[in-house]
Amino acid sequence: MTEINQVIQHAQRQLFEAGIDSAKAEAAIIVAHVLEVERGKLGIMQALGERLTPKAVDSVSELVEARVTRTPLQYLTGTAGFYGLDVQVEPGVFIPRVETEILVETTLQHFDTAEGPLKILDLCTGTGAIAAALAEQLEQRNIPAAVWAVDLDPAAADLARRNTAEYNVTVLCADATDSGTLLAAADLEPHVGVFDAVVTNPPYIPTATPVTQPEAGFDPQQALYGGSADGTSIPLAIADQALQWLAPGGFFIMEHDHTHASELAAALEADPGWQDVVTVQDLTQTNRFVSAIRTDLPQPTPKTPPTLAQ
Ligand SMILES: C[S@@+](CC[C@H](N)C(=O)[O-])C[C@H]1O[C@@H](n2cnc3c(N)ncnc32)[C@H](O)[C@@H]1O
Repeated sequence: MTEINQVIQHAQRQLFEAGIDSAKAEAAIIVAHVLEVERGKLGIMQALGERLTPKAVDSVSELVEARVTRTPLQYLTGTAGFYGLDVQVEPGVFIPRVETEILVETTLQHFDTAEGPLKILDLCTGTGAIAAALAEQLEQRNIPAAVWAVDLDPAAADLARRNTAEYNVTVLCADATDSGTLLAAADLEPHVGVFDAVVTNPPYIPTATPVTQPEAGFDPQQALYGGSADGTSIPLAIADQALQWLAPGGFFIMEHDHTHASELAAALEADPGWQDVVTVQDLTQTNRFVSAIRTDLPQPTPKTPPTLAQ
């Protein structure tokens, strides 16, 4: 039996030597995960000088070794915190990032005085984190809402279904940029042009940009790259699709690369389908989101509505 404090300190040293900034916090998270206790309870166990079984010490070592090779902590614990929720994550599906919480916050502020019922469409949903957070928060605020969430990747759609199971969320597996397939297979046809909001954190990294953060190497490429050298191809296609789903006056918000702010804002401003285009910053004062309101003008060139396959 080894004292918890010793195990945590050893893990912290290994993580620190591997260049992990938050080594102390991560060592505690790993031990708490192995012991299946909350961080607060772990603190009490440390204070009482409690000990770990050899089996638990081995489990901690295995996880620390994986973390030293920069496997994301969230894959090791199976969850990521997002807007107060514990979102399930698994290898192969994009881990929700803390900066995306601003997208949720901005959307909630927009509907601050709404009475509902609201219809919200989350395109490129990944784990379903945004859809789950919005559904949960609107429920807490007694604003009735129905959310639809779409991802191209069947593994992501599957995970999003699990993460949103307790809310009024319908998850669909489809290409959110493809005008040809989204509508036919799904139950969205009656909802064309009636959504109150389209929210999205699509892939947006320019194709030539190397991913510098070692953990991001574990994210699926399809979740990262925006489909063109400058990375705006998928975001622009998604904005185009949003026009078709939103009701006049509907709210659009999209996360984007920090290099895209002026180009995306200019593209939306040039389209008579949008008004009130605003660039929103993340917590590091980086331009990270564009929001806009759907005008009541029809689209200049009507397009086939996007299609969803369930
Ligand atoms: C950057 S991740 C964001 C996931 C989630 N919205 C979040 O913020 O955590 C982008 C997601 O878009 C999905 N995706 C990529 N291309 C897509 C497309 N054409 N249609 C629908 N989903 C797509 C990927 O599978 C991935 O889950």
